[in-house]
Amino acid sequence: MNVDFSAAGSIETESGEVLAVPVFEDRTWGPGAEWAADRLGPWLADYLDGQGFSGKLGEVVAVPAVGRLDFQTLLLIGVGTEVDDELLRQAAGWLGGHATKAVDVATTLHQIDLDGAAAAFAEGFLLGQYRFDTYKSKGEPSKTERVRFLAPGGEAASEACGDAATVAAAVAMARDLINEPAIGKAPEVLAAKAVEIGRSVGVDVDVLEPADIEREHLGGLMGVAMGAHNPARLVRFSYEPKDPKGFLALVGKGIVFDSGGLSLKSPDNMETMKTDMSGAAAVFGAVEAIATLGIPVKVLGITPLTENMPGGGALRPGDVIRPRNGKTVEVLNTDAEGRLVLADGLSLAAEAEPDLIVDLATLTGACKVALGSKIGGLWSNDDDAADKVKAAAARAGERFWQMPLPDDYRTQIDSQIADMKNIGDRWGGAIYAALFLREFVGDVPWVHLDIAGPARWPDAEHYQSKGGSGFGVRTLVELARELAEA
Ligand code: BES
Ligand code: ZN
Ligand code: ZN
Repeated sequence: MNVDFSAAGSIETESGEVLAVPVFEDRTWGPGAEWAADRLGPWLADYLDGQGFSGKLGEVVAVPAVGRLDFQTLLLIGVGTEVDDELLRQAAGWLGGHATKAVDVATTLHQIDLDGAAAAFAEGFLLGQYRFDTYKSKGEPSKTERVRFLAPGGEAASEACGDAATVAAAVAMARDLINEPAIGKAPEVLAAKAVEIGRSVGVDVDVLEPADIEREHLGGLMGVAMGAHNPARLVRFSYEPKDPKGFLALVGKGIVFDSGGLSLKSPDNMETMKTDMSGAAAVFGAVEAIATLGIPVKVLGITPLTENMPGGGALRPGDVIRPRNGKTVEVLNTDAEGRLVLADGLSLAAEAEPDLIVDLATLTGACKVALGSKIGGLWSNDDDAADKVKAAAARAGERFWQMPLPDDYRTQIDSQIADMKNIGDRWGGAIYAALFLREFVGDVPWVHLDIAGPARWPDAEHYQSKGGSGFGVRTLVELARELAEA
């Protein structure tokens, strides 16, 4: 994913492999498109009719241009109407996905009249080129080496791409971790990856091993890890820039495989459970990007990492465990394990007294039932904190919908023998999970993001590929930026 973004001369004087220009809905030519269409001649309209191309977002048509333009191929990119940052990011994603065979792409998409057009373009383009082909004998990695922004505006556009490329690389790193099969990402392997990230971006990383986990009374993580062959880890990132403007704690669910434990999942429901560490991957990605960008916010990133397996030592339904803050939990369903490891992660975060804790977790199937595969659930104990995260997510183009934390629902997780149980009834299951987590954050402003749906994109579209999406990384980076400016 090493694409060089540079400035070039005007569309009239440049030549190359692919020329990509935007077309608005109803085939209204965007910057450069009319010029190119004129050169191709009147048959273009018939050709586009035949292709059913009208300029809607998601439509891309490749037109052979040899002999008519000094480019081999003209790519017409549908951008729809009223383009905003996110729609441009998506259009650029479609372009990125279609252009992976081209070494060189010249474009005018940055000339669309929009603040931040170039950054949105670069982010969408790079993410649209992402492929996970580690295990393909014949992988087809993108060949694209260069994107040239045609004049006018090329200089400013190329300068605006650096930060976007940093963020896209962090998202791609998170996607790689999520897409990696569980056999290749045991907790110790992910912890080693965290250490490597820390070293490369100048962030302290501290890894707790089983003996440390026991000494620190991380009873939730210990409980879930009881049935696993591979030992657990807990990773703590500490990013401490000079003169920080705020202190953000990030907690990510890191279940490297969720079999359900003794409350075993069905084979169908288990198929995608290597992605149950997407919250942790988002924290890895966010820490990497925030530190690389040098955003002046102190960040504590915490990721409990373990498998949830039904080994001989596994936690039994009915067992009682004691997470770090001392509250006791009756575990009636071992498949509701995310909240158990997060209990410890959130307690550790709260003890550090940050301004805000954000946790990310593929926590409940119920959240996915409620909001589908492309929208995450958001819960908070603090309206101001919720607004900040919602604003950051909107800028990032990641969708969340706020859900309630009704106090009277708390009785649903009352236990007969302990302080609480780890499940409520079936209806509103994502809410009981959130109410459970609230027990571990004390008075610290906290936002819980249930990403069970969008952590794994159901099909390839725009800048998303099918599978691990890295959802959350971009929201967290935007949030850090916002805290730094406050
Ligand atoms: N990791 C799952 C949640 C999940 C389901 C994520 C589907 C992504 C897609 C979580 O650990 C889980 O199994 N939750 C249970 C909770 C229930 C037992 C209260 C669920 O949602 O069914
Ligand atoms: Zn589970
Ligand atoms: Zn899980």
